[in-house]
Order: sequence, then C-alpha cells, then structure tokens
Amino acid sequence: MAEAPVGVHVVDHPLVAHKLSILRDADTPHGEFRRLAREITLLAAYEATADLPTVPTEVRTPIGTAHARRLPSPEPAVVGILRAGLVMVDAVLELIPHAAVGHLGMYRDPTTHEPVDYYAKLPDRIADRAVLVVDPMLATGGSAAHALSQLAEAGATDVRLLCIVGCPEGIATVRAAHPDVPIFLAALDDRLDENRYIVPGLGDAGDRIFGTV
Ligand code: PRP
Ligand code: URA
Repeated sequence: MAEAPVGVHVVDHPLVAHKLSILRDADTPHGEFRRLAREITLLAAYEATADLPTVPTEVRTPIGTAHARRLPSPEPAVVGILRAGLVMVDAVLELIPHAAVGHLGMYRDPTTHEPVDYYAKLPDRIADRAVLVVDPMLATGGSAAHALSQLAEAGATDVRLLCIVGCPEGIATVRAAHPDVPIFLAALDDRLDENRYIVPGLGDAGDRIFGTV
C-alpha cells in the first residue's frame, strides 16, 4: 500500500481489511458487494466523522442531569456522488439518521475520463452544515474535485471526503484543487491503469454495486 500524504487518512482496522478483501474479489456477486460496501462505509464513516462539531447540552436522566454533547443545528449533510455513492449515503444515514442529503450526479466520460454532470441537488443552508461527501472510488480525482467545487460554490466550508478505494493520482488532484478538504479512504492503492481504473482496485464500482454492465 502506498504511503498516505498529509491530509489523507487511511482507515486501519481488521474488519475493514477483511471486508475489503472480499469486496475486491472479482467473484463476489453484486448483492454481497453492495452489502460489503455499506458495511465498510459504516466503519470508515465512524472515523471520517470524528471531528464533527458538537454543542453542549444538558439531559435530564432518570437519576440526575448529564452534561452531554449533541450534533448542532442545522444537522450535518451527506452528499453522494451518483450513482455509486448512493450505497454509501444509505450507510451514513444509519449513523446520522437526521442528516440532510444531497446528490451530485455525474459520470466519467469513457474517452476523456472527465466528469459529465447530469444532476445536482444540495440541502439548504449548506454553508452552515458539516458536509461528508461520499463516493466509492477516487481514481483520477476528477469527479470528487468537481463535486467539491460545486459544494464550495454553494458556500460549504466544513467538508470532508470519504471514498472506499483511492490512489495517488486522485489524491493529488483533489488536494491541488481543495487543499483544506480532508480525505478518508478504506484503502490507498498503487496507481491507475491505461483506462484510468485503479490498480488493483475493485473494478467498476457502480456496475458491481448495481449489477449492470
Ligand atoms: C465512478 C466512481 C466515481 C468516479 C471515479 O463513477 O463512482 O464517481 O468513477 O473516477 P474519477 O476519480 O476518475 O473521476 P462512474 O463515472 O463510473 O459513474 P457511476 O457511479 O454512475 O457508475
Ligand atoms: N471508477 C470506478 O468505478 N473504478 C475505478 O477503478 C475508476 C473509476
């Protein structure tokens, strides 16, 4: 595994490593792939949300008063890059059920490998929310960098990116355009191939999640 640069956090956990080993396997069927992508996201999102802001609160327990912390209002937002990011949005919503949800639809042009937009819908008051952007793959980084630019244009300032598999090229692209956005990965792979797929990676995440070709 390549060494993680500053600002990039690679989740190091036996359960994540085990689930990734099955997720990567070319023989893993799409139903199991989807379940594993969801489970890895649950574990990795726990780390990617460790710096979410909280506000102090007092809670009356059956015995007394607890000095507690809760997430602020407005609640955090999870923004999924369509379509593969959808499975990760669902996982994050299990952790933060009251999160607001945004969707940024784009696909990678097969020839230029540049992202092509087809949809964008973000929560209101995005400037006041902590935002977690999710997409399984950080390959050239074009899709993630474009999504982060859309969020910046909308006013978001407290943003983190969570991907399952990344590579040095994708990290470099995102860090060059958005140096303040922390990147969380479940795995940092070696490189891109001539088709700009991550090596060894896991193949086409969207197709493997949804059983398409
Ligand atoms: C995949 C993946 C990322 C993008 C990564 O989506 O989910 O969004 O490619 O590649 P990049 O870092 O080189 O931009 P894809 O374009 O295949 O669309 P899909 O989610 O609809 O399958
Ligand atoms: N998109 C994917 O789904 N996989 C890659 O390896 C690169 C882009």
